[in-house]
Amino acid sequence: MPTAFITGITGQDGRHLAEFLHGRGYRVCGMMKGQHNPRAEMLRDELPFVEVVPGDLNDLTSLVKAIEQVQPDEFYNLGAISFVAMSFNQAELTANVTGLGVLRALEAVRIVGGPQNNPIRFYQASSSEMFGKVREVPQNELTPFHPRSPYGVAKVFGHHITVNYRESYGLYACSGILFNHEGPKRGLEFVTRKITNTAARIKLGVDRELVLGNLDAKRDWGYAGDYVKAMWLMLQQDQPDDYVIATGETHSVEEFLELTFEQLGMGDWRPYVRQDPKFFRPAEVDLLIGDPTKAREQLGWRPEVGFRELVAMMVEHDLAYESARLRR
Ligand code: GDD
Repeated sequence: MPTAFITGITGQDGRHLAEFLHGRGYRVCGMMKGQHNPRAEMLRDELPFVEVVPGDLNDLTSLVKAIEQVQPDEFYNLGAISFVAMSFNQAELTANVTGLGVLRALEAVRIVGGPQNNPIRFYQASSSEMFGKVREVPQNELTPFHPRSPYGVAKVFGHHITVNYRESYGLYACSGILFNHEGPKRGLEFVTRKITNTAARIKLGVDRELVLGNLDAKRDWGYAGDYVKAMWLMLQQDQPDDYVIATGETHSVEEFLELTFEQLGMGDWRPYVRQDPKFFRPAEVDLLIGDPTKAREQLGWRPEVGFRELVAMMVEHDLAYESARLRR
C-alpha cells in the first residue's frame, strides 16, 4: 500500500486529495499543527481514515520527525498561508510559511531520503499568483513571473527552490502551477464561495447584502476535485517536471456573480451587492488565463467540470447547507 503525506490536510485541496488517494488504496497521513487544532474534529468526521501526524512548516525538526515516522512514498506540500488579501497584512508570516516552509519541507525530504530504490516523491503547490501582472496571455510554464502580493512572492520562492532541489540533489520534485480552483469545500473568505454562500443566505432571508471589492478581476476558475488528480499524475511520471493546471477559460468576478444570482432565480445581482474599498487589494492581479497544453499532452489530464457546472455545484451546495443550518 503506497503512503502519502500531506501538509495542508484540512484545506480544500488537502481534503480532496486525501479522498482521491484513499480511493486509490493509499495510506493517507496528514500533518496538523498545534495542540488543540479546531479543525481536527472536522477532519475526523469527514475523513476518518486520515492518520494525523503532528508537525509545522515553520519547524524543520518536526518535519524530519514526521517523515521519519510516516515513511511516505509521496509528499504533497499543500500547506500555506493561502489567502492573498491576508498576506498583505501578515507578510512576514506568509514569507515564512508559504515561502521558507517549502525549503524546510524539501530539506526534510532530502535529509530523511527514503530507501535507495524508492526515494520520496515531492509535490509543491505553486500558484498562478506567481504570474501576477501577466507578461503574456495565456500563461504557460515558460511565462516569466511578476508576483503582486507577499503571497505571490513567497510562492515564487517556493517554486524556484523546488526546481533548485531537483537540479541540485536529483530529488523527484514537481511544481504544479495551479490556477484558481474552487468548489463546495472552498473557504468562505475566497470570492467564489463568498458569493455563492452569501447569495444563498440572501435568498433564504438570513442576509441582506453581499459586500465585495473589485468585480473586474478575471480568473481561470476550475473545480478543485479535478485539480488534485493532476497533482497525483505529476508524481507518477518517469521524470519530474513542472506543469500549468488550468481550464484555458477566463471569467470576471462580475460574471460569477451574474451566474450565481441567475441560478438562484433571483434576477439582477445589482440590488444586493455593495462594493467596499476594504476588499480591494493594494496591488491586483487583473487577468489570469492558463494554457494547460503540456499537462494535457504529457499527463493526459484535462478538466471535467466547466464554469457553469462549477457555479451550479457551489450554489446547490450552499443553498442546501444554509437551509440545513436554518432548520437546526
Ligand atoms: N476574497 C475576495 N473577497 N476577493 C474579492 C472580493 C472579496 O470580497 N471582491 C473582489 N475580489 C477579487 C479579488 O480582488 C481577486 O481579484 C479575485 O476576486 C479572486 O480573489 P480570491 O478568491 O481571494 O482568490 P485569489 O485569486 O486572490 O487567490 C486564490 O487563487 C490562487 C491561484 O491563482 C487563492 O486560492 C490562492 O491561494 C491561489 O494560489
